[in-house]
Amino acid sequence: MSTVELLKKNINQAKNKKKFRALLKSKGNRKMYIESYGCQMNLSDSEIITSILAKEGFSKTNDITIADLVFVNTCSIREKAELTVRKRLEFYNSIKRKNNPKMLVGVLGCMAERLKERFLEEEKLVDIVVGPDAYRDLPNLIQEVEDGKKAVNVMLSLEETYADINPVRLGGNGVTAFVSITRGCDNMCTFCVVPFTRGRERSRNPESIIKECTELFNDGYREITLLGQNVDSYLWYGGGAKKDFKNASFEQQKNSLNFAKLLSKVAKINPLLRIRFSTSNPQDMSTDVIDVIAQHNNICKYIHLPVQSGSDKILKLMKRGYTRKEYLNLIKKIKQRIPDCAISMDMITGFCSESEHDHQETLSLMNYVKYDFGYMFKYSERPKTPAARMEDNISEKVKQKRLTEIITKQQNHSFLRMKEKIGKTLEVLIEGESKKSNEYFYGRTTYNSTVVFKKGKHKIGEYVMVTIQDCTSATLKGKVI
Ligand code: 5AD
Ligand code: SF4
Repeated sequence: MSTVELLKKNINQAKNKKKFRALLKSKGNRKMYIESYGCQMNLSDSEIITSILAKEGFSKTNDITIADLVFVNTCSIREKAELTVRKRLEFYNSIKRKNNPKMLVGVLGCMAERLKERFLEEEKLVDIVVGPDAYRDLPNLIQEVEDGKKAVNVMLSLEETYADINPVRLGGNGVTAFVSITRGCDNMCTFCVVPFTRGRERSRNPESIIKECTELFNDGYREITLLGQNVDSYLWYGGGAKKDFKNASFEQQKNSLNFAKLLSKVAKINPLLRIRFSTSNPQDMSTDVIDVIAQHNNICKYIHLPVQSGSDKILKLMKRGYTRKEYLNLIKKIKQRIPDCAISMDMITGFCSESEHDHQETLSLMNYVKYDFGYMFKYSERPKTPAARMEDNISEKVKQKRLTEIITKQQNHSFLRMKEKIGKTLEVLIEGESKKSNEYFYGRTTYNSTVVFKKGKHKIGEYVMVTIQDCTSATLKGKVI
């Protein structure tokens, strides 16, 4: 090579390097905007997604008009949840036209999994469709879109738990965090879309869970919620789907770890670290789990125990795997071992063929338990679920009437449970400033009830003892002692 050629080559290389660095820099400046709908699991997934993309040089922005990439993490649980997302897509479209013509739009999560490529046909604006088990592929998919194609990955997995990914905590208060421990669900309740959108149930390596919780504690977090569609069914035997446990080796089965054992390990990280968990399925909650909750002061005395209906006929049609009597026995067992345990529920009104008598059974079950909190919904038929083959034969009017009745009842019970706390002195973890006044903090008791009180000299993240003086059906008011 002549000197001139060598010189030219060096100049070209330098130019390429410069170009490459400029490219990297521009990539480094790329901004990502993400919105999450649906359950806590989705929020936790958005934190995993943000972490995966941070490694690719994307930083998070809360301003959609400057975002290079706009993600919506979607929910399919009810039709209304899907309609909300469709509305958001219309909004993104208007932003894209008016302010930000170059932005890419990605649909993630349960709706992406349910609708797959159809999303691209139905919503021209969408560039990327990614299901809950394919987030590691996001960098490649974004590259595909930058190369001018549309990109889809909706592969479900038997192993993926994102165990090694350190989530970027989003919109948090620095005090409470979610840690996912299982993914997917094998229960196949007839009304539910989750087994189709999130695949088979699998559990995350306990070491990675303990590590994440310990790091959170060291970073100042004081409350962790262990998350999964069905946490009580947690079973670690070395990886893989729960359904394959029966084929695992003798050694793997012998060394397996269930939810009770995991919970106890997490509780031992530090007595100042509060533990919550969600969601429990009544058919999977063991006596051992109840015992572990009772034994550890730092495991919150609050169990979310979705019942869905008080009628045996409906529970059977829903394939919930328990009867009204079995459910009530479980509540009895919990209250025997943890007398002050708060309990909440999910309830569905107007499921296929629900009669007035079935509805009355639901109301009487509520009267019996007197739940501390409740999350109540009208039945919404989801395509391809087993219940979609039944007749959705309860009119909208009747569904609404029954829903109003159970909501009214629940409000009375919540108020009752709150009033029981008046005069008591309860430990409260301070989470932030009250929305109504900057002179007040809010925090939660072990029972998951929100308390507001004068700030004094206290700080967010501290535990304080609060004497409860007054309440509404949603909030306790008190004084720090
Ligand atoms: N229609 C109405 N509510 C539903 N849920 C789940 N699937 C449906 C449906 N098809 C409710 C259940 C569940 C909660 C997360 O959402 O009560 O526990
Ligand atoms: Fe919605 Fe269920 Fe998916 Fe959570 S798992 S986002 S509740 S459909």
